[in-house]
Amino acid sequence: MSIIEERAKRTKWFMDARFGMFIHWGLYAIPARGEWVRSVERITVEEYDKYFEEFNPTDYDPKSWAKAAKEAGMKYAVMTAKHHDGFCLFDSKLTDYKSTNTKAGRDLIREYIDAFRSEGLKVGLYYSLIDWHHEDYPAYGDRNHPMRDNEEFKNKQHNFDRYLEYMHGQVRELCTNYGKIDIIWFDFSYDDMRGEKWRATELVNMVRELQPGIIIDNRLEASGESSGSIKTKNPSVYSGDFASPEQIIPPQGITDVDGDPIPWEACITMNNNWGYCASDKMFKSPKLIIRKLVECVSKNGNLLLNVGPDANGRIPDESLHILSEIGKWMKKNSKSIYNCGKASIEKPEWGYFTQNGKFLYAHVFDGNIGALPVPGIKGKVKKVRLLSDGSEMNLIDTWNIKEFPDYAFINFGPNPTATYPLPDETDTVVEFELI
Ligand code: GLC
Repeated sequence: MSIIEERAKRTKWFMDARFGMFIHWGLYAIPARGEWVRSVERITVEEYDKYFEEFNPTDYDPKSWAKAAKEAGMKYAVMTAKHHDGFCLFDSKLTDYKSTNTKAGRDLIREYIDAFRSEGLKVGLYYSLIDWHHEDYPAYGDRNHPMRDNEEFKNKQHNFDRYLEYMHGQVRELCTNYGKIDIIWFDFSYDDMRGEKWRATELVNMVRELQPGIIIDNRLEASGESSGSIKTKNPSVYSGDFASPEQIIPPQGITDVDGDPIPWEACITMNNNWGYCASDKMFKSPKLIIRKLVECVSKNGNLLLNVGPDANGRIPDESLHILSEIGKWMKKNSKSIYNCGKASIEKPEWGYFTQNGKFLYAHVFDGNIGALPVPGIKGKVKKVRLLSDGSEMNLIDTWNIKEFPDYAFINFGPNPTATYPLPDETDTVVEFELI
């Protein structure tokens, strides 16, 4: 099998699942100014240590996180095992900088994996390639390191190979000690820090040997500015299994150079931060997020929606509210999300289409005047139902639509020329069973 065929086989469940939870959690929940706080504020390791001393998330209850994810209709999750600050939420033998050595005294990753697995969700781990705590990671002159312009670090020697041994060793631990891992999400490459600089071929071969079937993101090779060789017909060994656009939903989705679809997953925050940020109350509405999930699916992509739990181990109330509202919609409409992808018909004026074989889903966002014109299905419809309750809807044939013979028209009420509010203001889904 070619790399591309293997990729398609591996990612089948993932592309069917469509919706997952990203969890950014670590010491940075205490300063509560986002997960880049050390870099942004140029905080030294010693200053940052106070958060290590303090960390004690007594409310951490991953079972309740898993339940919230499942209720929202999510099928998988990805949690930060180590972020750029280097703090490990798992019991690594290779460092003391880990949750088991804090007041928490727990392997937070093991508990996450057990909890999400027992709710039937697939589990993924985020692992930062970047490490601002490790002595052998480049500091002075690096693009991102908190000490990048601190003169005291100018002549500091480091041995990057030693860092790579550590990094590879930790990935080995994660792939060995926790049973089956479904996704590993490496983050991220930049400048010349990419590909073989990470000894990426060796790393990927190790991961695939230890975890056959695991799905790997594309950031061992790619940076935010490009998806890497995953978009070519000759992808590298470490090109990854899916592209990972960040804080954007790609126009037209992501395809390879020939326009063939490749797996992709947009990662999006609920407010404007990944890690907990106490002052950031700019939460997106559930309506917007549901519509963006639909948009991803209509373009053959997934949505990985982030939560940033606080220092006590709680997912913010605003996020829980969003998850539960999404769940209400998903309970009635998830058939138009799971196993669905880009439709064979162009995007309509009033919303989006998704499709699963002979089932075409019209996601109606805009209210209509009179009947709603549906392109591309005239003469091909076996039945029409409102997805949320299964109620019958009819294609109509009235005098005022005669001029538009290429469209099928559906109506939301008894009078075909009247205006009706849509049954669901967020997204009214109409299911067409095609002949
Ligand atoms: C970026 C950020 C990081 C975040 C990630 C999520 O690469 O560095 O903080 O974890 O995006 O995609």
